[in-house]
Amino acid sequence: MTALKKRVAILISGRGSNMRSLVEASRAANCPYEVVVVIANRPDAAGLLFAKEQNIPALGLDHTRYESRDHFEGQLHTVLTASKVDLVACAGFMRLMTPEFVQKWRDRMLNIHPSLLPAFKGLHTHERSIAAGVRISGCTVHLVRPAMDEGPILGQAAVPVAVDDTAETLAARILEAEHKLYPRILAAYAAGRISIVDERVSWPGSVNQSGTLFSPDLGSAS
Ligand code: GRF
Repeated sequence: MTALKKRVAILISGRGSNMRSLVEASRAANCPYEVVVVIANRPDAAGLLFAKEQNIPALGLDHTRYESRDHFEGQLHTVLTASKVDLVACAGFMRLMTPEFVQKWRDRMLNIHPSLLPAFKGLHTHERSIAAGVRISGCTVHLVRPAMDEGPILGQAAVPVAVDDTAETLAARILEAEHKLYPRILAAYAAGRISIVDERVSWPGSVNQSGTLFSPDLGSAS
């Protein structure tokens, strides 16, 4: 008998390219999760169209129409429970959640952030990475905790930063890595391979032994 797939909701605010990569990965027969609903806090979020085309229930919950953050989150919680959601994957969801909502979904809500956390939490990540002169950046998938962009780190991917990168070119390079990282980490988490002990992940995964990323690439020159 095949194990039941975990039921995943994806929260977005805009384009939804990460949502798309999660949905596409979920099509594999052996994927341990299925996407049962996509919710955007902006009804005009472009990603909702893709979800609808894929016959995934897609819902715009316009946060500006709710009198308070609590009311908005109450409705969100109602939709998530009605859809019998096991896991929530935030993917470009630009809305801070109250500690109460985060607590309800503790260890069941993941997020992706376009930096190597704990560096460069918050907005304008790429601009700040470039301004700081870092030569390596990347992306992080983590469990959501009340503080913004905090929580146990489930996985990361690193990319080089070029000296002539703009926020746009760096964002594009990192986004490619995001699309590879998020589906794999969500699958490992949904399959129960990752557990958390003292707010740290106990999953070793496999370690890329030759995985030193040099930036700039030093080639064979000394
Ligand atoms: C991604 O870079 C994500 O890490 C960040 O917002 C962006 C969303 O892009 N939080 P998309 O909507 O998934 O295309």
